[in-house]
Amino acid sequence: HKGGHVKITIVGTGYVGLVTGTCFAETGNDVICVDIDANKVAMLSRGEIPIYEPGLGEMVERNTQLGRLRFTTDLATACNDADLLYLAVGTPSADDGTADLSNLWAVVEQAAPHIGPKAIVVIKSTVPVGTNAGAASRFKELTGREVDVASNPEFLKEGAAIDDCMKPDRVVVGCRRAEVGEKLRELYAPFLRTEKPFLVMSPESAEMTKYVANAMLATKISFINEMANLCELMAADIDDVRRGIGHDARIGFSFLFPGVGYGGSCFPKDVRALRSMATALGVDPRMLTAVEEVNDNQKCIVTQKLKKHFKDDLAGKTIAVWGLAFKPRTDDIREAPALTLIDQMLAAGARLQVHDPEAAANVKAIYGDKLSYGENPYDALPGADALAVMTEWKEYVHVDLARVAHLMNTPVVFDGRNVYSRARMHEAGFTYYGIGRSP
Ligand code: UGA
Repeated sequence: HKGGHVKITIVGTGYVGLVTGTCFAETGNDVICVDIDANKVAMLSRGEIPIYEPGLGEMVERNTQLGRLRFTTDLATACNDADLLYLAVGTPSADDGTADLSNLWAVVEQAAPHIGPKAIVVIKSTVPVGTNAGAASRFKELTGREVDVASNPEFLKEGAAIDDCMKPDRVVVGCRRAEVGEKLRELYAPFLRTEKPFLVMSPESAEMTKYVANAMLATKISFINEMANLCELMAADIDDVRRGIGHDARIGFSFLFPGVGYGGSCFPKDVRALRSMATALGVDPRMLTAVEEVNDNQKCIVTQKLKKHFKDDLAGKTIAVWGLAFKPRTDDIREAPALTLIDQMLAAGARLQVHDPEAAANVKAIYGDKLSYGENPYDALPGADALAVMTEWKEYVHVDLARVAHLMNTPVVFDGRNVYSRARMHEAGFTYYGIGRSP
């Protein structure tokens, strides 16, 4: 490490580690990011980023050139004189739904012999409640002294990661000693100029905060999806209902858009992990179980509608799919509802013509030539018997509907994200199915 304000080592250059490290460098700290993947490290050192995240590439390049941001595979050296050792490795779902902490524990073992006497370890990865305490005791066993371990969960969203990181709604820190909280408060001061709160609590509460936040958001989505499905059966329109409830400030408008279910690297994994924690404590997590069940069903909703429309006969039908990423402005397809649709359509014998502005390559890596890939949205349409919109990318909203209808075999649209108005679609001659809207 050289120069800089605080010397920070970040282990794990996934979404969270890379964005956090880059933002800390941006505010003048001296940051080293460590990853075991040598290709990734080489790429990042050249200023190329392995993910699609608006604005991140320029920021990595600038800070790398300024010498405030470096990348390495050498964990031991990178730990040497770090003031803060951030752990941001992945904590994926294990087969039983619990969080798989093997990456985290491996880093603890490898880092322990190399951290300085005053270094503070900060766990940014989403970890089960009690992990910070467990890490603190493991560091004590390995080093023979007390090591401060603080929890600092991350709340950033893919696609808006830099803004979320630089202008957070709040920063949560869980630690045992007030001094640790103060050090992290200084680190975050440049991000909290807008008077947003810096909240200090116990590591257990901080760990739990992250799960409760994601579980609450997932609950909102499953709730509105269940209501949307009911609206359809009752000839009500979920968009009107949404407007009808949102003006009550206790309810609000945000995160209540019905759709094809939540996906991504966080909600599904975190809901499952929190369920496992409850079960391990002998508690039946009824709300969380329902949230997950409703979501699993919602990911099949377009398939169900397609089957109904085509009277269960999808063999040989051509289905166009617009949107493969789990949400717009990302190339991430982890647990994406579009993949559920693709699997079910392939199983039913349909042919698929797909498009996504950013995620097509990731899908191709899994499905190869089982699907055909359009260069642009219109490319996916020739001969299609139906079009399913699975991600609300802007490019799908402002399309030439007359051209869409002309290219398709039959103009039938399954709008999984309610991006089109029903009136506009009917005018353009489409048979239109939305979510929570009477046909
Ligand atoms: C989510 C949280 O929003 C972040 O606060 C959190 O930090 C992050 O997980 C994490 O734990 O790291 P992210 O997974 O990037 O962020 O994506 P979101 O924008 O939250 O979307 C999640 C899913 O919910 C998407 O599939 C989206 O389509 C769906 N969604 C969202 C809806 O179906 N309806 C809505 O109204 C909102």
